[in-house]
Amino acid sequence: MSNKKMIQIALPKGRLGDKVYEMLDKAGYSCPEILEGGRKLIFESPETGVCYFWVKPSDVAIYVERGAADIGIVGKDILLEYEPEVYELLDLGIGKCRMAVAAKEDFRDDKAGPLRVATKFSHIAMEHYLDRGRDIDIIHLNGSIELAPLLGLSDVIVDIVETGTTLRENHLHVVEEIVPISARLIANKASYKFNQASIDRITDALAAGKEN
Ligand code: PRP
Repeated sequence: MSNKKMIQIALPKGRLGDKVYEMLDKAGYSCPEILEGGRKLIFESPETGVCYFWVKPSDVAIYVERGAADIGIVGKDILLEYEPEVYELLDLGIGKCRMAVAAKEDFRDDKAGPLRVATKFSHIAMEHYLDRGRDIDIIHLNGSIELAPLLGLSDVIVDIVETGTTLRENHLHVVEEIVPISARLIANKASYKFNQASIDRITDALAAGKEN
């Protein structure tokens, strides 16, 4: 293993990343040190030929696109929003949720003017309404999107719905589903070319361990 290149894997920090590491562990790519906690960010496992590092979930695609990581795990929402130049190798079948339009219970689109849409996913929202020929005014926010219609900042939101709890507790409801989302394994295009055998082995091992 020593003269072989280590495969650099960008893991999304948080709940999804923990699940992904569990899958990699079961697939034979263990690195027990990663479970020790603390503030360390890079973990090498020379025995299995991989090196893990934790990054902010929305940054995984940047690391992979630019080749700082060979592969990574990212939500389909990020791939649709930023359209990075990467290969999408596998749907891991975890981190399942949906991208949806939501609004207050009494919302009616009167079409008299542009629809005010609050979202973290401006590109997805623009494409969605472009397809429908609906004129919109995008209000780009960075979090707590559900607040926008409650405070009259927007008419609707485009956001991720997982359990639906956030919408329910704020008296909002799904008006329209846009696309189902789940976690994807992605690869840097050049890295894939040069390390195809190693990357395919990881992909196949993860595919074999998928629950569905
Ligand atoms: C996401 C999303 C919704 C919530 C949906 O927010 O933006 O607010 O999760 O999950 P639910 O349907 O299970 O309630 P996140 O926790 O990422 O925080 P944010 O407010 O910073 O976007």
